[in-house]
Amino acid sequence: MNILTFETNEELNKVGGNIIASLVQTNPYAVLGLATGSTPIGIYQELIRTYQNGHVSFKHVTSFNLDEYVGLPEGHPESYRTFMNNQLFNHIDIPLEQTYVPNGNAADLASEGARYDEMMSTSKQIDLQILGLGHNGHIGFNEPDEVLSSGTHLVQLKESTREANARFFNSIDEVPTQAITMGVGTILKAKMIMLVVRGRDKAAIVKRALQGPITTDCPASLLQTHSNVVVLLDKEAAGEL
Ligand code: GLP
Repeated sequence: MNILTFETNEELNKVGGNIIASLVQTNPYAVLGLATGSTPIGIYQELIRTYQNGHVSFKHVTSFNLDEYVGLPEGHPESYRTFMNNQLFNHIDIPLEQTYVPNGNAADLASEGARYDEMMSTSKQIDLQILGLGHNGHIGFNEPDEVLSSGTHLVQLKESTREANARFFNSIDEVPTQAITMGVGTILKAKMIMLVVRGRDKAAIVKRALQGPITTDCPASLLQTHSNVVVLLDKEAAGEL
């Protein structure tokens, strides 16, 4: 693992944005795995700036998002589709039909994961997967458990995850109880993974994920088995390493 620690968020965003922009400059047909949450927003802003300066085009890029809540109506401000449109897609030249997010309103939620994996396999392998980290070690919405699923699948969200995400809703009652998420197997198939973590409140889980035992009890620890992971940390998140 290549672990990089940054003094400021600006520096972290620049490096994160550069990694993605350089990949797309080298391979305009790159397939990006994208993440939501507050962590990647600064990196997306950096990418938008690079695009606006004319240094990169996303015209031929395809993207697959990690996860989506179940049951939020289309256009709900907190759905991950809306988040991606607002934070990135509406500000760059990627055609929306080349951007994929699991369908949290699929008539058959149990088979939505298989449909999503099928779509991913008809496209190429993900070149770069961006990941944030949950306080309990989740990646995407792969929650700590005795067993983890490999492919994209339906999950029940842990109460701790719903509480952590309640800040984006009017109350915790509005936070969905289920989500569709890429599985750990899907994530590990990406050619390169960029894990991004910020803040003192994530320092302990960063240590567990990067230096602790590889266990399904901390899904992010499985990233230790991947041969091409870059980790971008602010100095607070790196505080316990
Ligand atoms: C959410 C998302 C994850 C995200 C994580 C951290 O629940 N499903 O993909 O990485 O939790 O979120 P944040 O970046 O806001 O701390």
